[in-house]
Amino acid sequence: MSVSVTINGKDYKLDVPPETPLLWVLRDTLKMTGTKFGCGQALCGACTVQMYGQPIRACVTPVSAVAGQKITTIEGITTKEAKAVQTAWEKLQVPQCGYCQSGQIMAASALLANNTSPSDADIDAAMGGNICRCATYVKIRNAIKEAADDLKGESHA
Ligand code: FES
Ligand code: FES
Repeated sequence: MSVSVTINGKDYKLDVPPETPLLWVLRDTLKMTGTKFGCGQALCGACTVQMYGQPIRACVTPVSAVAGQKITTIEGITTKEAKAVQTAWEKLQVPQCGYCQSGQIMAASALLANNTSPSDADIDAAMGGNICRCATYVKIRNAIKEAADDLKGESHA
């Protein structure tokens, strides 16, 4: 039985068991390795992708659950929020080892698409499930605020 999914705007008919986690489809079947495996239990956020702009955990999402849906991964995200986030990430040099960062960027860009002026509490609520073993949390918070200002045409210069 095949499963049809749209990933980064491209349609795929996948010949995999329906219960296969989306993360393994991305990494093993499609060789999109930007989305990372951390815990496999929806506890760390390393595997965060977006479904219609909302963050989901690919490690606990069976591919059958996203059949016919539109998925975006770090390889294909081109929204203005994602661009602002990536620019701010670079400017403030957020990543350390980098392992958690694609999940952080997917969560942060979803947050900004829903909330143009997130408070510290909003950021904590949206990003709390994205764990960083290198503890880049302060930089992540600052970079989200920088990206929010950038999107509003303001600058921290
Ligand atoms: S690998 Fe999916 S949440 Fe940790
Ligand atoms: S940058 Fe190393 S785990 Fe987050």
